[in-house]
Amino acid sequence: MAEQEIQKIGDKLLSIRGFVFPENYEDILTPQSMDRLGTFQIRDDDVFVVTFPKSGTVWTQRILTLLYEDEFPEAVDQTSYDRMPWLEFPQKGEEHTTRRSPRLFCSHLPEQLIPRGLQGKGKIIYVMRNPKDIMVSYFHFTHYMKSLKPSETYNEVMEKFLNGRMIGGCWFNHIKGWYTNQDKYNILFLSYEEMIRDLRGAVVKICQFLGKNLSDEVIDRVVKETSFNNMKKDPKANYAFLPNDVADSGKGAFLRKGTVGDWKNSLTVAQNEHFDRVYQERMKDLQLDFVWDVTDLLHT
Ligand code: PPS
Repeated sequence: MAEQEIQKIGDKLLSIRGFVFPENYEDILTPQSMDRLGTFQIRDDDVFVVTFPKSGTVWTQRILTLLYEDEFPEAVDQTSYDRMPWLEFPQKGEEHTTRRSPRLFCSHLPEQLIPRGLQGKGKIIYVMRNPKDIMVSYFHFTHYMKSLKPSETYNEVMEKFLNGRMIGGCWFNHIKGWYTNQDKYNILFLSYEEMIRDLRGAVVKICQFLGKNLSDEVIDRVVKETSFNNMKKDPKANYAFLPNDVADSGKGAFLRKGTVGDWKNSLTVAQNEHFDRVYQERMKDLQLDFVWDVTDLLHT
């Protein structure tokens, strides 16, 4: 029965209950482990960064690890990955239940699969990004990560994005699930684009949400360290620590361009129109606006 719940969807990807992930995680993420996540015990001071992939996860992850640095002096030399692991992809020997508080987690899970204990305990920061930039970012990511099948063309990656055949599953379901169920959670919605426009403002917002009263000096340092250029140079934050059998540094980088509207350099007019048609139809019931181009940032 459990095996039937695991679907092979091609491109070296598996799906369990609509959540899509690389098949090299098949021993880590199973229907049984998914069940256990549903009842995973949440603590009041747990903090989760939840995203659809390529929406700004590792950026927000770095911000959070720096904001909590004073509480974990022993973790100063750890990578942000070690300090703030993915809930659903625990590393070998890693046990979330024995970590000391406050625990920081990343997750790409859709709303219906997140631990139910988060309804009433803990805090969630949900970061969203305009989906055309997500799609283009993912296109490059499939070339960079050895566990993924590289998309050959933008037509191919768009077809996969629009049909939910990429890591994370269906972007439309992810955003709708989280946005329409937000009242169940203690949740802050942030956008990648607002972080680009005003990183300091976003960091202050995060601090207010977490009830963290940090000095201007500390906030300035966090903002400085998490700028795209500084993070790209930071071995604890730039994911260049991924081993050679996982990522191909000759074919890209985790921190690639870090901008808004890069899709304009990649999609043809016809591809963009097709995307817009599907987007309008699938998002018509959701009152959510995205910033699609860097010039629009000035007006937000
Ligand atoms: S993943 O694989 O889901 O964890 O990827 P994720 O971290 O969500 O998204 C990767 C994109 O975020 C960009 N990024 C940043 N942009 C601006 N500033 C900073 N500091 C930063 N850090 C990461 C990263 O470059 C990816 O976007 P693209 O468009 O590919 O550059």
